[in-house]
Amino acid sequence: MGRFSGRVAIVTGGSSGIGAAVVARLVSEGARVTIADLNAPDEESDAVAFTATDVASADAVAATVDATKERWGRLDILVNNAGVGAFGPVPDMEQEAWERVFAVNSTAIFLFCRAAVPAMRENGGAIINIASISGLYGDYFMSAYNASKGAVVNFTRSLALECAPHGIRVNALCPGLVETPLIGPSLSTPESRDAWCSRIPLRRPAQPEEMAGVVAFLASDDASYMTGSIVTADGGLTAHTVSPTSPNCGAFGSRKPVEPARLCLPSVCIGTTMNMP
Ligand SMILES: NC(=O)c1ccc[n+]([C@@H]2O[C@H](COP(=O)([O-])OP(=O)(O)OC[C@H]3O[C@@H](n4cnc5c(N)ncnc54)[C@H](O)[C@@H]3O)[C@@H](O)[C@H]2O)c1
Repeated sequence: MGRFSGRVAIVTGGSSGIGAAVVARLVSEGARVTIADLNAPDEESDAVAFTATDVASADAVAATVDATKERWGRLDILVNNAGVGAFGPVPDMEQEAWERVFAVNSTAIFLFCRAAVPAMRENGGAIINIASISGLYGDYFMSAYNASKGAVVNFTRSLALECAPHGIRVNALCPGLVETPLIGPSLSTPESRDAWCSRIPLRRPAQPEEMAGVVAFLASDDASYMTGSIVTADGGLTAHTVSPTSPNCGAFGSRKPVEPARLCLPSVCIGTTMNMP
């Protein structure tokens, strides 16, 4: 018996990248899954049904939730994963581009939750919203994406409060850099890959399956006491400040004697100078 035997899920954006890996993982543990995407997945099966859905359309979203309940009689898990990126400086950004990013990344999550929560109240359930570390901090020239993912983070907290009395847990996953079509040329040259990997403590991007494992955990009863949590899975990217990585670059790592007054770890440093190896 898998963790999701007898359970039914909807995964938005389940035809590619992280969403496709989530579908495969949930099915491997016994779930039946509706994929809500603009594009059909590579494969359908007895356990996987595709419903063509623009997640930004309220009517399409409601129809997908209804179709899932009709097909399988219940709804236990909703993974709001569909997302799009946008890149460019604010003065050059068309309002239409800004609004489309919000429609797909933020408003769609409201639409799906609005339609799914009444169906999930019957048995309780789990909602996992795919935000991003870009919803926690800023990126250069990604204002629309940053803002839309920030909205997902705080919507998750708010909905968690509202849904707790109904036994519905609501959590968000903030991935770091994951190797999927969404990231475009970010890893396409040795230079760009190196620029990214040198900033990631684990020194590599994630594979979609590594996000799917976290989503499956949050969807499962193993996470039964987690709601309103914002979980990062980013190879350590957000664990550090922007201080230089070399031990020879900063005050704490200087090979030169450092004036005690400039150090801020009193118990270690006051009254002495510090020579790092
Ligand atoms: N790849 C990363 O590095 C990364 C990092 C942080 C967060 N994320 C987030 O993870 C989620 C999945 O991204 P991914 O990297 O797997 O991207 P992806 O491009 O591989 O997959 C996105 C899927 O969403 C679907 N989609 C897009 N717009 C849609 C719409 N209007 N209606 C229905 N489906 C739509 C696409 O058809 C596609 O199948 C997104 O929300 C993204 O913002 C990705």
